[in-house]
Amino acid sequence: MKIVSVVGARPQFVKLGMMARAFGRAAQTAGDVQHVIVHTGQHYDRSLSDVFFDELELPSPDVNLGVGSGPHGAQTGAMLRGLEDAFVKLEPDLVLAYGDTNTTLASALAAVKLHTPVGHIEAGLRSHNKQMPEEVNRIVSDHVSTLLFCPTRKAVDNLCEEGFGSPLLGGRLVPIGSLRPETRATADRPWVVNVGDVMYDSVLFHRERASTRTRVLEDLGLAGSPYGVLTVHRAENTDDPTRLREIFSGAASVVRSGLPVVCPLHPRTKGVLAQHVARELTDLVRIIEPASYYEMLTLLANARLVLTDSGGVQREAYMLGVDCVTLRDETEWVELLETGRNRLAGARAAEIVASAEALLHRAPPVRIDPLYGDGNAADRIVEVCVEWGSLG
Ligand code: UD1
Repeated sequence: MKIVSVVGARPQFVKLGMMARAFGRAAQTAGDVQHVIVHTGQHYDRSLSDVFFDELELPSPDVNLGVGSGPHGAQTGAMLRGLEDAFVKLEPDLVLAYGDTNTTLASALAAVKLHTPVGHIEAGLRSHNKQMPEEVNRIVSDHVSTLLFCPTRKAVDNLCEEGFGSPLLGGRLVPIGSLRPETRATADRPWVVNVGDVMYDSVLFHRERASTRTRVLEDLGLAGSPYGVLTVHRAENTDDPTRLREIFSGAASVVRSGLPVVCPLHPRTKGVLAQHVARELTDLVRIIEPASYYEMLTLLANARLVLTDSGGVQREAYMLGVDCVTLRDETEWVELLETGRNRLAGARAAEIVASAEALLHRAPPVRIDPLYGDGNAADRIVEVCVEWGSLG
């Protein structure tokens, strides 16, 4: 069975890290499983791409389309064309699409048009805001997929509300080795399956080695002292000067109140920051180059507070026991809000400061509820793929 993973952006490389390991294990036990990696080239800077392949010890991509940046239509169109050619040559039995980026959308669409089944990792998430490119990407990807791998129970429920049939095992986390479905899923009769979050697998697997393999805290002079981490890269924040200004104004107030804030800056944000935000605000925040995965895990794990508009960083903060202010008006990861350790502040400086203060006045969490599975999501996904393949 040939399975092609399509990746292109930072968070997809992280998930691929665990999937590639799980496919390696399956090749030894389940036999005939061939895993092929296609990189669209959506992210191409060394700091956003190669560094992740190196740290996560990922095999080099079998194909790199080198598509690069561009407006949504041009970028997605170039990927569709390149992926169609790649799939025609590779003849996969299944294409795996990851997350909610333009790479996800292109891989799902290119595959389904060739009648190649799609498995979507991180299926079922909804922000209920179609202004977000990611929301459109994930809805379309889900609705053309054959295997929908949900990271949470809430994601399963979202799909049920959209008319997907009954989830496997009633939407419960599928115990490894227990799945024995009798009818094969198709794009018209897909399987919805709760597998847990591959990002959680990754945090568990890498957190210790991250701390021993980077000196980011020492290099930044942060070791042993409280600090906050800020990340901003969502189009809704970077492309709106008022929102961007409010976010940096809120972060600057947090710094003035005594908590230094370090900000690994995405190139998208770097490009507009000086134009839209006054130097007096950005100078208060310590801006650094984009962090590698190990640097980011280490920065997050030792932080007192995280401020972010990233879905991945919100979850990683929780998984590492750090409170988080979410710089968005809604989140797909609603279970985080229910814990009280994550607060939605939107892009309003006053709300950011109030949320930060509320969280800083609480003791850091002592116990983390397992919201995201049991750390075996990648093995579970591979097992479901193999079971599905065996019914063919
Ligand atoms: C993309 C995803 C977003 C994901 C994020 C992870 C979409 C619509 N968005 O956002 O969901 O959370 O990746 O980081 O797919 N750029 C560089 N070097 C690079 C890549 C990008 O300088 O290697 C700059 C370019 O100016 C580019 C801009 O960043 O135009 C945006 O890049 P793009 O890949 O379109 O979206 P991201 O903001 O990275």
